[in-house]
Amino acid sequence: MTAYLHGFIPEEQQRLMDQAGVLGSLIYPRIDFGGCKKLLEIGSGVGAQTETLLRLFPDLQITCVDYSQSQLDRAKQNLAFAGDRVRFVCQDAKELILEEKYDSVFICWALEHIPNSHLVLEAMKPYLLSDAKLWFTEVFNSSFYFNPPLEGLSKYYVAYNEFQQSLGGDPDIGANLGNLLLQAGYSQIELFHGGFHLDQRNSEELRKITQYWKGLMKSAGSGMITAGLISDGDLLAMEKDLDIIAEDDNAVFFYHFVQISATV
Ligand SMILES: C[S@@+](CC[C@H](N)C(=O)[O-])C[C@H]1O[C@@H](n2cnc3c(N)ncnc32)[C@H](O)[C@@H]1O
Repeated sequence: MTAYLHGFIPEEQQRLMDQAGVLGSLIYPRIDFGGCKKLLEIGSGVGAQTETLLRLFPDLQITCVDYSQSQLDRAKQNLAFAGDRVRFVCQDAKELILEEKYDSVFICWALEHIPNSHLVLEAMKPYLLSDAKLWFTEVFNSSFYFNPPLEGLSKYYVAYNEFQQSLGGDPDIGANLGNLLLQAGYSQIELFHGGFHLDQRNSEELRKITQYWKGLMKSAGSGMITAGLISDGDLLAMEKDLDIIAEDDNAVFFYHFVQISATV
């Protein structure tokens, strides 16, 4: 198993649950699995998105694939309410061996972590029914803009993205999804953008998202310190700067992720 940016400690597992709540209203308005019965979720983690999918699409049976048994163990607890609507498979998504075929696929914040992620797109193909509906949501970290300019946050963000790249991930994979799916032979590919453009007009949301962002950034902190990319002081500076943005009269917090829909 390759190293993973956010790690698997219980606090991180809880962060994924909280994250799904904070971002859900941005992720789900477009996603449509209407008419689908069997969904393959790749990189399902602790089942945070699965819970939403089960609720939004009551006819879906979902197979959760993750390469971490500890994530799946936590997902089993979180999704116990769903009974046999959920199955769990512990596999590397680049080397899938599945027993069924699926009419839908959902991936959220997972391809960004997988080196050679095109191999995932190849690996799932034999298990997709014709006309299967795909919906992916992925990061586009170069889109991040904030005001006022703050050295601590800037420095930390550069190190965060470099750390992800050093693990074989791609912090800008959202921007490249179109080409990735095209080259893997998928069709009817459509791209959408979602995210935040916050300022003091929506001060409550600005505070909520800067707090969320702090947790996201911090989740890679111990790995970055161990890798010698940042110090404890750098981590504190990043947190302090996000608090400054939340209160600044001229604050701007902008970030876009990318969603893609496609079929086989
Ligand atoms: C940021 S989490 C996202 C989890 C979930 N999709 C969500 O949005 O809450 C990424 C997940 O991808 C899993 N993952 C990373 N590389 C993987 C691989 N090669 N095969 C399967 N799962 C992988 C990690 O274990 C982790 O649970």
